[in-house]
Amino acid sequence: MHNHPARLIARKRDAGELGPAEIRDLVSGVVDGSLGDAQLGAFLMAVCCNGMTPAETAALTLAMRDSGRVLQHPHVTRPKIDKHSTGGVGDKVSLLLAPLVAAAGVAVPMVSGRGLGHTGGTIDKLAALPGYRTDLSIERFQQVLEQCGYAMAAPSAEIAPADRRMYATRDISGTVESIPLITSSILSKKLAEGIDGLVMDVKTGRAAFMVQEHDAISLMESLVAVGRAAGIKMAALLTDMDHPLGQALGNSLEVIEVVQALDGPCPDDLREVTLALGAEMLLLAGVAGDLDSARATLVRLWQDGVVRQVFRHNLELQGGDPRVLDDVSLLGRAPHVVAVEARRPGFVVDVDPLALGHVVVDLGGGRRQPSDAIDPQVGIVLKHGLGDAVQTGDALAFVHARTAAAAQAAAERVAAAMPVGDEKRRRGALVKRRLV
Ligand code: URA
Repeated sequence: MHNHPARLIARKRDAGELGPAEIRDLVSGVVDGSLGDAQLGAFLMAVCCNGMTPAETAALTLAMRDSGRVLQHPHVTRPKIDKHSTGGVGDKVSLLLAPLVAAAGVAVPMVSGRGLGHTGGTIDKLAALPGYRTDLSIERFQQVLEQCGYAMAAPSAEIAPADRRMYATRDISGTVESIPLITSSILSKKLAEGIDGLVMDVKTGRAAFMVQEHDAISLMESLVAVGRAAGIKMAALLTDMDHPLGQALGNSLEVIEVVQALDGPCPDDLREVTLALGAEMLLLAGVAGDLDSARATLVRLWQDGVVRQVFRHNLELQGGDPRVLDDVSLLGRAPHVVAVEARRPGFVVDVDPLALGHVVVDLGGGRRQPSDAIDPQVGIVLKHGLGDAVQTGDALAFVHARTAAAAQAAAERVAAAMPVGDEKRRRGALVKRRLV
């Protein structure tokens, strides 16, 4: 490091501003280890307490991006646009969205994460598909992208390595909740994909990373500003995570919901959020002139079976068994499936995504520790949503569990998370705000 780290840390401590070269110096110290753990923790806390200017956040993002390999796709002529969600319960949008947008002529190089806490991760969902590989080499990732229009991979150690150390340190130092640190963490990895544009799905509500709407809006604004400063096109939607998305929660159950939605029924909320994000991606790509025509294109491709074909092609290229498209039983089924029944007539007055997300984790469908193995087949399938009328004995949901005892314990908690009362409530808007 050229600058003495203590001096830079002290400047941030005193709410001063760091220049791009100073930030690059700190980030190179993160990667080569010359910045010690105590120094990194102190720097992160100083940023957490005093924030960063947009210019500092952009410099941090670029330095983190450049800490590893930055992909280029010289053989891909299509515009390269990705989507990133801040995470939710039942959020399987990426699995539908990538083939949908690829079918419309956009390249989607999607590097996704694993589940975090009660929120699911695309990589864990894909792991439920027999044979499907997400540990692609960069060269294979590029080939798959070229051949079918989208590729889905877990982040390799070569992508934004500074973020790994910084995120792990934030996790144990009370510095996760910082808009500049979240912005740079998310965008450094996305920018390393070699994209021309990014649509952010920033969730807000009980099960969101940003529970309060005003925090989610600040994050949205920061992501859009910093992404643009880093040279890519940006759009962001603020979407509801006060209720789960779709009806299936749990990795293999969510994949089944997606496979069925490719040419059959798709829950309205899942369809709505997928189309809204997809339309933004088409606009950023310049393959549609306005949101209405973008949406109409996507609906047609979905209805005509093109999306299913693209999904199949990707499945074949990434080692998955394409027979699952015609036979979802190949995904297996947990041995104990029990109904959660309404104990009185009335309306479903809540579907608490945070409580349900925790039930899925406790069934084995998520991780408590980073090293935990996931049981892909466990989870919950909702049969009713907010405001639905039910009779005593109607199934509100089904719990899929590895043991009878786990199923019973989960069923009690699902019943508590889906109370039945007298008031007919409606879900608020799914897309709460658009920032372009
Ligand atoms: N996701 C990330 O990748 N980083 C954060 O800081 C928060 C969410």
